[in-house]
Parts: sequence; structure tokens; C-alpha cells
Amino acid sequence: MHPSDDIRGSRSGRLSGRKIVMGITGSIAAVECVKLARELIRHGAEVHAVMTEKACEIIGPYSMEFATGNPVVTHLTGKVEHVSMCGDVEGKADLILIAPCTANTLGKMVHGIDDTPVLTFLTTGIGTGIPVMLVPAMHSTMYDHPKVMENLGAALKMGILVIDPRIEEKKAKMASTEIIVEHVLRLLSGGSMRNERVLIVTGATREPVDDMRILTNRASGASGIALGVEAFRNGAEVLLMAGENVVKISEALKVDRFSTTGDLLERIKALPGKWKAPTMAFFAAGISDYSPKRKEGKIPSGKEELIIELGPTPKVIEVFRGLFPEAFLVGYKAESIRDPEKLLERAYERLTAVRMQAIVANDLSDVTPETNTVYLVTPQKEVFKVSGKRSDIASFLLERTMELRGTR
Ligand SMILES: Cc1cc2nc3c(=O)[nH]c(=O)nc-3n(C[C@H](O)[C@H](O)[C@H](O)COP(=O)(O)O)c2cc1C
Repeated sequence: MHPSDDIRGSRSGRLSGRKIVMGITGSIAAVECVKLARELIRHGAEVHAVMTEKACEIIGPYSMEFATGNPVVTHLTGKVEHVSMCGDVEGKADLILIAPCTANTLGKMVHGIDDTPVLTFLTTGIGTGIPVMLVPAMHSTMYDHPKVMENLGAALKMGILVIDPRIEEKKAKMASTEIIVEHVLRLLSGGSMRNERVLIVTGATREPVDDMRILTNRASGASGIALGVEAFRNGAEVLLMAGENVVKISEALKVDRFSTTGDLLERIKALPGKWKAPTMAFFAAGISDYSPKRKEGKIPSGKEELIIELGPTPKVIEVFRGLFPEAFLVGYKAESIRDPEKLLERAYERLTAVRMQAIVANDLSDVTPETNTVYLVTPQKEVFKVSGKRSDIASFLLERTMELRGTR
């Protein structure tokens, strides 16, 4: 057994049984390829590396052989490796991922030139209809060359997915491993949410008490972020509206940060462009019901007693319902009562009051940093219970809400 098998599927089984040809070209970003290949393997993929001569001057093929557990193609032989992996044959690749992609390989590919092993895999695979994903990396002056731009446009017209580089330090750097892997997961998933535009509100509001202090809550954003990642992987367009306190957000998600309840409300009222019509919304946030009557400056310390006056905040989800009556709306209800029956009763009341399509109820006593137990309640009073890791809960909730959406 090769050591790469030790990590196969350790993150998920979403790519198991999937064969990915990873074409590596002569960019300095090739140094990231060991990590990238191993992350794909952690989701279950079988990875085969193909390298140009210039890529082999930057990293050694042994690194990729170690990373993937498979022999590396650096030149074509009588085995016709390009045909056996990318021809119209049984067991052909599910994806050709060119990461990093040089300006040179991009230009040659869109013009049908075929003079490196990576290009021969591309010519064969494109002819076969295998999906191709390009991850460009180059100095920004190369990236700004009008012909390079034109070639990227031509690649898009050919139906190739291009993952935008990060523009940093005068370079168009290869997208991060996390972003590439998320796009691979999305491309190779069934795309069950391909037609959905999903708005997720998560994290906690922060209401100022004075210039220094804030009133906030324990919502970490973990459940909403897990939902966002899962929806993205299933092909949805996702906008994550996140409080400032949240745990690490996947780099693949589009994020809009909010601070106070009022700020969140204004952002929802001013949602731009296509977000004026979200098809689904999940309110998985700790939105403060009260906000302090803010004091100017800083309240001095040392008082015997301090009374902070609070006033009610606007009900953001109710305003949302009024603004977007067509959206499939899922609310969240957290209680601390250790009585599932009462919890479900309260959740159902809230669901009907706001005309939600479903509500997720949970008791705070069931929450741990990694796991949770939640109930999905429908307008027909059906209840689905699920416990486990947040990613498993997110995938369950999305599957169920998509089913409900179909039968609404
Ligand atoms: C150290 C080094 C780093 C390079 N980085 C890049 C790069 O990031 N992007 C790029 O387009 N070319 C880069 N080049 C230039 C390419 O290697 C060159 O255009 C080569 O012809 C690409 O061949 P290939 O596309 O067949 O791999 C780099 C060259 C060297 C020596």
C-alpha cells in the first residue's frame, strides 16, 4: 500500500471513484501541487500527474509520485498514456485540472497546439468531452497581456472552467488550494442546487454599549458556514452574510460582513443585483433582540451598579419575509429548555408567524464545538431529527429542504 492511501477519504468520500488528471506546467506555483493533490485525495480522488518539461525544472516528478501514489507522465510513450486516460475509453478521467496553468500552455491550448504531454492530454480530453478546469498563475504583467486575456476568454467560450487568480504582490497568483478543491467538488457533484441562489445569514450581531463595549452572543457561525460550503459544493450560488465574530470561513464563499442588527437589516434591504431575488434563505444567525441605548464615550469603571437600558431591535427575518415573499425561507430557533416538545412547539409558532417554509430548532444544551442535534420542522408539522458533525447536519438539511422545495 502506498502512503497516499493512508489519507484517502479522510475528509470526505465525495470524490471517491473519481479520476483526476492533474496537468502541471512551468509556473513557480507548481510548488503548491503536492498539497493540492493530497487534498483531492483526502476527499477520495485518484490523482494522476502529468508534467511539462518546464514544470519538471521547478518541482521533481518524484514529489508528485509521492503525493499521488501513481507514476508521473513526463513524456508520452508507446503506452499512449493520453489515450488510456483521456481517450474515449472505459475508466477515463473525470476531470483534467491544469494547475498551475502558464500563459504559454493556455495560449497553445486555445489554438489547438499540442507539443507537451500536458497539451496532448488536453487535446485528447477536450475531444472526448472530459471537463477541464484551468487555474492560471503568472506575473501580473503577463496576465495583463491582451492576448493572454483573449486566450482566457477563448478558453471560457470552449466551456472550460477558469478559476480566477488572486492578484497579490504584482502577481496573478494561483488560487488557493482550498478554492481549487471546492471548485473541483462543485464541478464533480451532481449539481442538485445548480439553479439556486442561496442567502445565508450567520454569526452574531454586535450591539455597541458605548465606544468600547459591545453586547453580543455565542453564535459562532459554524452551522451557517457549513451550510454555505455544502450549498456551494452542490452547485448553488451562495452569499454568506456573516457577523464579525465567526469561525474561519471557506475561501470559496462570497461573504458580506455585518455588525449590528440595524446594519444587517440595511444590507438586506440593499442587496445588490441578482441577490435582489434569492431563491432560498437560511437565517442561522444569533441576531440580538435588544440593543443598548448607546452611551457616548466610554462608561467609567468602578461604579457600584450599572444599569444598561435596552430597546428592542427590528425583526430582520420578518422584514426579509416582506421583501422576498417568493424565497424559500428557513429560520432557526435556539432555546435552552431541555424539553424537545416545548422546543418544537415554540419553533412551530415562529414558523407560522413568519410564514417560513421550514425551521431548524435546537436546544443549546446539545451544542458542542464540533457537533449538534437539530430538528427540521415543516409547516405540516413533520419533524426530522439529525445529530452529528455540522457538515453532516448541513448536508442533511439541504437534502431535506430541496425535497420540501420540490413538493411545496
Ligand atoms: C522559476 C520560473 C517561474 C515561472 N513562473 C511562471 C508563471 O508563474 N507563469 C507563467 O506563465 N510562466 C512562468 N514561467 C515561464 C514558463 O516556465 C515558460 O513560459 C515556459 O515556456 C512554460 O512552459 P509550459 O507551459 O510548457 O510549462 C516561469 C519560469 C521560471 C523559470
